Amino acid sequence: MSDNSDFCAQRATAMTIHKLFPTLVYATRLQSGRWRTFNERLLRECRQLQHDDESGRRWSARNYPGGYTSYNSASHMHRVSPTFAALERRVRKHVAAFARALEFDLEGRELAMTDCWVNIMPRHVVHGLHLHPLATISGTYYVQAPKGVPGIKLEDPRLDRFMAAPPRKAGAGRPWVVMPAEAGSLILFESWLRHEVAPNPVAAERISISFNYGWF
Ligand SMILES: [Fe+2]
Repeated sequence: MSDNSDFCAQRATAMTIHKLFPTLVYATRLQSGRWRTFNERLLRECRQLQHDDESGRRWSARNYPGGYTSYNSASHMHRVSPTFAALERRVRKHVAAFARALEFDLEGRELAMTDCWVNIMPRHVVHGLHLHPLATISGTYYVQAPKGVPGIKLEDPRLDRFMAAPPRKAGAGRPWVVMPAEAGSLILFESWLRHEVAPNPVAAERISISFNYGWF
């Protein structure tokens, strides 16, 4: 007959710890033979938009101090620019792959890009914590990301439920992850995932294109 310690050992051997409810984030590079040429076209159009978009510059001065975003003024760039439309065609297959990984049942419908806008972050500009309402999958494509610019900081979606949870040991990970920004790379996430960009510490501008996809 086993004594109590043997019983505990057997129980311990049989024990399983499950990792449930993972948060999926999709990252890739939009590479092709003419990738750099394509990116230069996007970069020219982003800068031209900033120059032309007086309404957006005014809105940015109040809501994105020091930076420029077309979020409130030109947020359907994929419909007005052939270059941005080409970006959408390149992004589309990755959104479909991500939707498969998420095991979405779209009931015969397709995810479609609903919004697409430009973000230009010079030195010291910050993009505060937010999520993307009325969307299913959101993401960012990096047009220009010089060395030292901040990545995107993704928050653990359980953070507001941690309450009295003790801190984790050193090296155990934190309730956020920073994914580096790299020109030519794409990141996709579910639109409810909160994220932010820390202040840009370098003199060079961080230029990205953000977008939403919806199925409704
Ligand atoms: Fe965002």
